[in-house]
Amino acid sequence: MRRKLVAGNWKMNGLKASLPQVEAIAAAAAAHPGVDVALGLPATLIAPAVAVAGAMPVGGQDCHANDSGAHTGNIAAPMLVEAGAKLVIVGHSERRADQGETDADVKGKAEAGHRHGLDVILCVGETLDERDAGQAEAVVTAQIAGSLPDGADGAWLSIAYEPVWAIGTGRTPTEADVAAMHGAIRAKLTDLLGTDAASKLRILYGGSVNGANAASLLACADVDGALVGGASLTADKFVPIIEAAA
Ligand code: G3P
Repeated sequence: MRRKLVAGNWKMNGLKASLPQVEAIAAAAAAHPGVDVALGLPATLIAPAVAVAGAMPVGGQDCHANDSGAHTGNIAAPMLVEAGAKLVIVGHSERRADQGETDADVKGKAEAGHRHGLDVILCVGETLDERDAGQAEAVVTAQIAGSLPDGADGAWLSIAYEPVWAIGTGRTPTEADVAAMHGAIRAKLTDLLGTDAASKLRILYGGSVNGANAASLLACADVDGALVGGASLTADKFVPIIEAAA
């Protein structure tokens, strides 16, 4: 039985003034022990957030495949760990688009995170053009095949399905489309890893999740949680999503 995971992705948002939100979200997480809650924060906020987050894990939104070296501006998994991170998000579509990350890059990042003991949320998702062309499942399953880390055999890895056209737009796929894609992802994971290993991985949905639509999205077949952007920035919007998963 997979526990639901509700993870927030703060993207490039958050200064120390937001720490009371982290604290309030952590309090809600503690009040709902049946659901896993986590936050992916800007690197600068990880250590201060750890100080107020209690048992709620916080982490980063990217890491380099290497542990150190001449990579100006990048962050390595051991640096996240030293700051107190317990998880890392890799392969978000914004990084795939803005930084040109390939599936092979994302695989290396996921493996680096795992090598240093971080839980990993690996993002995949199709663009609107790809969906309109009927290629959504082919694109997403190819991303899985190309970016799945070696040794993906446990609950430390979650896959986040985030259709690019649903991110920050207020649009979501139909429940039938969500269930169909999550089923296709589970089938691909089963092909690649075998039934036992594939059944341990959580598949999260991400893209315009909010307090009003969370319950119906989380009830779709093979949806094991949510990766939430805008609605994770404040407790008043994020806590109802945690409650919907509980
Ligand atoms: O990683 C979460 C994200 O891309 C979804 O963003 O703002 O649509 O919830 P949002």
